[in-house]
Amino acid sequence: MDAVVLHEDGLPRLVDRPRPDPGPGEALIRVDRVGIDGTDREVLDGVHGDVEASMVLGHEAVGTVAEPNGTGLEVGETVVPTVRRPPGAYNEYFRRGEPDMAPMDETVECGIDGADGFMAEYVAVPSEYLVPLPERLAPYGFLVEPLSITAKALELAEASREPFAWDRDRALVLGTGSLGLLTIPVLDERFEAVYCLGRRDRDDPAVELAIEAGATYVDSRETPVDEVPEAYAPMDLVYEATGHAPHAVQSVSALAPNGVAALLGVPEPHTAEVDLADFHRELVLGNRATVGSVNAGYTHFERAVEWLDAMPDSVRSAFAEHVYPIEEFEAALDSDVIKAAVELGP
Ligand code: NAP
Ligand code: BGC
Ligand code: ZN
Repeated sequence: MDAVVLHEDGLPRLVDRPRPDPGPGEALIRVDRVGIDGTDREVLDGVHGDVEASMVLGHEAVGTVAEPNGTGLEVGETVVPTVRRPPGAYNEYFRRGEPDMAPMDETVECGIDGADGFMAEYVAVPSEYLVPLPERLAPYGFLVEPLSITAKALELAEASREPFAWDRDRALVLGTGSLGLLTIPVLDERFEAVYCLGRRDRDDPAVELAIEAGATYVDSRETPVDEVPEAYAPMDLVYEATGHAPHAVQSVSALAPNGVAALLGVPEPHTAEVDLADFHRELVLGNRATVGSVNAGYTHFERAVEWLDAMPDSVRSAFAEHVYPIEEFEAALDSDVIKAAVELGP
């Protein structure tokens, strides 16, 4: 079968691999589509994850059950695999059903860190890591994994604001990449106004989609994050999806009192001089919070399926416009479109 692996020379390559035999508790899944995000590009650049030689790439997948193998699933069911697996034996995080809360050295991540991903015609997946999806959503199913990231981050942010009456007036998304853009329609349902900060011109397709999805666009070249309150308004939520390290601190400056910043981006090394007293004071005297969040659990995937279903068709479709056949995997991995995906199905 076809599989796209990261070769020892650091380049992705289409290779022939034996079709996997599902073991006990595993179903054989025919992979239909695999989305590509910033993390995949970081893996290819060698700056994220622990890449085994010949690791199969891809972690945002949707597929169809080909052989249930006694798992209780049915042939033809549409499913989305979660990303984390135990690093050998189960540990406490997997036993509790909270693999997303495992420290990075107590988990592997399919297609990212220490385990094969999903960019292959078939994968064998333990049924406990398969989330069902209505068949009508199958063409967009590769969006479930990134939406699950937002489901978890929002849950953590909301939990930290739960003890009091939190104003949900304004939310700011940092970044016009696929994670940031996908999060805008979700926040648009939950906040009175959503803003999106990027560094592209207004006629860029990513910016146009941000606006179509309901956001007011903030050009960071004119208004840096910490000037957003003065130029626009203070934010009740900041959702950081750039990985630009200074945003971790600047996000707090963009918050209203009682606001919360959720940090998702994975930064590269970056040092800078920072007024730590300001940062500390704004957090304490403003009852503000910062939460970091990585990966997502099964219930977050289920919520993501509901969100995908509820998303306006025009917005959902904009993320599924650039689907490349497997033979064109290089173009998909290199492309600068809003969201690229690879199609493996027949
Ligand atoms: P992406 O497609 O590469 O998007 C990154 C975005 O950040 C791009 O729009 C980029 O702008 C923008 N950006 C970078 N530096 C900026 C700056 N200084 N000012 C304004 N915008 C800036 O990646 P993605 O898939 O959306 O993911 C976003 C980040 O989240 C990545 O760091 C990724 O590793 C991380 N991530 C984390 C999780 C998690 O579980 N925590 C899950 C998924 C992704 P340009 O396109 O104009 O360069
Ligand atoms: C993936 C997550 C993963 C994270 C860190 C993200 O792109 O969507 O599942 O935990 O990267 O590797
Ligand atoms: Zn991802």
